[in-house]
Amino acid sequence: MLKPNKLANNNFLSSLDLSTDEVLHILEIANNFKNKKINIDLNSKVLGLIFDKSSTRTRVSFQVAMTRLGGTTIDLNPTTSQIGRGEPIKDTARVLSRYCDVMAIRTFDHSDLEEYAKWSTKPVINALTDLEHPCQALADFLTIHEEFLDFKDVILTFIGDGNNVANSLILCGALLGVEVRIACPKGYEPNSLVLKKAYEIYKNKDLLKITNDPITAIQGANVLYTDVWSSMGEENQKEEKDKDFFGFTIDHNLVSKAEKDAIILHCLPAYRAKEITDEVFESKRSRIFEQAENRLHVQQALLACML
Ligand code: CP
Ligand code: NVA
Repeated sequence: MLKPNKLANNNFLSSLDLSTDEVLHILEIANNFKNKKINIDLNSKVLGLIFDKSSTRTRVSFQVAMTRLGGTTIDLNPTTSQIGRGEPIKDTARVLSRYCDVMAIRTFDHSDLEEYAKWSTKPVINALTDLEHPCQALADFLTIHEEFLDFKDVILTFIGDGNNVANSLILCGALLGVEVRIACPKGYEPNSLVLKKAYEIYKNKDLLKITNDPITAIQGANVLYTDVWSSMGEENQKEEKDKDFFGFTIDHNLVSKAEKDAIILHCLPAYRAKEITDEVFESKRSRIFEQAENRLHVQQALLACML
């Protein structure tokens, strides 16, 4: 039975806060939690949640994970706490550090998360920012591992916006040595600093490909992944993006060009007839709800390794 090792870094703000070994360790611990092979008691530790954006999966999976670990959560709704009235992050962070043992924060600017972590004396977890969604990427790679039992020879193709989810898939994929292809319309490429860091990790291996052509990107792919075209905070760009993303819907025709064993992933929530058709979403190849379930097991593993 594998016990959780403590993570070297205090915070989990980016996929890059973990080493390759730590990612693999978390996935193994998550698998052990999923199969009820371990039982960890965190002795009533408290996880504080600050969510400046909506959430179903991330919030609830953190709450259930903490309950299963014998801890508890406090959901600090920004509209009913002083956070929403503009109390400086550095003050909130220093106060909550004295009550909570760990914080999970979902916000807009990644720099706000970093500011929080700078002033917090307790570990801080990125529950999604405009730049990254590292907890999601861990659950995604757990789902991929369950399907293919290995990361060797897996080709992951993400079709859509070069957004937070794509950025974390790229970084986590680089750590795991997985071939990652991103197909997005011109002008919607992933963050350039993220790409630079990923290329550095891949060294001279040609395993990260950014293209504007979904058909090329999908050939030979084992995993087809998509996410919303307009992320939270981009509501006013919806009309323009819907036009720009024409041809980037994962539909039956696109799926037929991938490997026969290809699986479909989506971090959810999904917009049918936009980034994915209902037919593909509901198809036998979809592992979307296994992926959503894995958020819980990974969150439990992450907390067990952090606390
Ligand atoms: N995938 C994901 O993070 O979902 P929520 O926005 O519901 O948390
Ligand atoms: N890219 C999406 C992910 C939601 C889980 C967003 O940021 O809204």
